Amino acid sequence: QQPVRISPSILSADFARLGEEVRAIDAAGADYIHVDVMDGHFVPNITIGPAVVKALRPHTTKVFDVHLMISPVDSYLDAFAEAGADILTVHPEAGPHLHRTIQRIKALGKKAGVSLNPATPAKMLDYVLEDIDLVLVMSVNPGFGGQSFIDSQLRKIEALRKQIDKIGKPIDLEVDGGVDAVTAPRAIAAGADVLVAGTATFKGGPDAYAANIARLRGAP
Ligand code: DX5
Ligand code: ZN
Repeated sequence: QQPVRISPSILSADFARLGEEVRAIDAAGADYIHVDVMDGHFVPNITIGPAVVKALRPHTTKVFDVHLMISPVDSYLDAFAEAGADILTVHPEAGPHLHRTIQRIKALGKKAGVSLNPATPAKMLDYVLEDIDLVLVMSVNPGFGGQSFIDSQLRKIEALRKQIDKIGKPIDLEVDGGVDAVTAPRAIAAGADVLVAGTATFKGGPDAYAANIARLRGAP
């Protein structure tokens, strides 16, 4: 398990001031910037495309952690890579050939992540885990911020922590959805080392971001 990193989801930011919001969470101590890309087809919401990622890129040097909730996903990998993504995370259900998709992300020079919905088993990764850089465990059904953490996903995190440790390579184990000051320590105890947080980062406005992020790391 690597040191805990915080990846605020800009889904909960003020979309009219996204550049400023990204600079504010950077200054407040974010490690990654989590970008939730939704297509109104794979998930029931529409958010951000490559043009917005490109526009935000000059505002920070932090890692752009781009979570693609779109299908079919393959035809958009190049555009998000060119727009400045550092990590491209896909869902196994978003294309017919997960292994091929992962290889394409790596060929683009980006880190490859795979995200598991609450009902998707960890064993989906049995033959690709050693090839990827990040596993994203969804602790809510993807589509919206502000939902409650689904406790059964802690077991999945525990199982994946064991498998990652066995491989012995620094694969990020990220958890996304309903992460707050109460659920963060439970996810970390189960083995997560990257926490995505939208609501819990952005609540209270810019003056609260630094304290919100510190609290997710375990500060009182
Ligand atoms: C849900 C997204 C999450 C979401 C998290 O589909 O993948 O990243 O924004 O929001 P909170 O932290 O509010 O649950
Ligand atoms: Zn996400």
